[in-house]
Amino acid sequence: MSVLKASDLRKKYLLGEHTVEALRGVNFDVQKGEFVAIMGPSGSGKSTLLHLLGGLDSPSEGEVTLGEAQLSQLTEYQATLARRHNVGFVFQFFNLLPTLTAEENILLPVIIDGKNPAHYEDRLKQILELVGLYERRKHKPDQLSGGEQQRVAIARALITEPAILLADEPTGNLDTKTGTAIMELLQRSCRELHQTVIVVTHDPRAASYAQRVIFLRDGNIVKEYRPGDDVPLAERMDGIMSTMRELES
Ligand SMILES: Nc1ncnc2c1ncn2[C@@H]1O[C@H](COP(=O)(O)OP(=O)(O)OP(=O)(O)O)[C@@H](O)[C@H]1O
Ligand SMILES: [Mg+2]
Repeated sequence: MSVLKASDLRKKYLLGEHTVEALRGVNFDVQKGEFVAIMGPSGSGKSTLLHLLGGLDSPSEGEVTLGEAQLSQLTEYQATLARRHNVGFVFQFFNLLPTLTAEENILLPVIIDGKNPAHYEDRLKQILELVGLYERRKHKPDQLSGGEQQRVAIARALITEPAILLADEPTGNLDTKTGTAIMELLQRSCRELHQTVIVVTHDPRAASYAQRVIFLRDGNIVKEYRPGDDVPLAERMDGIMSTMRELES
């Protein structure tokens, strides 16, 4: 079942006289429960694509279909609701509210949506256990390590059971070991919760956790790498790195 579809997505930015074509006709489909990585050099359009997929910004041309909804057909208000109910975002800098505890940060999307957090007790416990922070749920962000803060951010993105989780360089601000733990956690959310996950990363090690790696260059998809599920991580990483070398030459 397709949960997300990008059809001929184009994005132009106007900078005075100058036009930047950040995306030049991107097409792809993501199935429910898939784990997709998007890679590409700096400026290739990765963040632009992620923003369009999540409805944070609109394309110049083309369409994003999220579940049943064509995002371009929605009013601003409908788009806000579609985003709130269907999309979880995780960023490189964890963006937690410093005065709230871990569990209060995680429940924030529920409160913003006008729902009663008491109804989310079971889900909160499930998610805290998934991210391994049940014991630390009363801690404030400055009492947590970087990796723990990122796990809170992932839990916050997952609390409302969004159709897709979008993460832009979620390991970009973490050391290798902590970054690996974050990728393992995203992989577990796919396997255990059938969560659909799309991660932007420039790190081949991080990308090797995905089932599919999409390579962008100059606003186009130029290659896709799809190892079988039984291909070990080290071999996937080799495949990703050799694709990157091939694209650079
Ligand atoms: N708001 C904006 N206004 C003008 N140009 C922009 C804007 N946002 C992005 N761009 C341009 O669009 C292109 C794609 O940018 P984008 O941020 O999507 O790249 P990226 O692949 O995420 O890069 P990085 O790896 O450095 O994060 C770049 O040339 C960038 O300068
Ligand atoms: Mg970016």
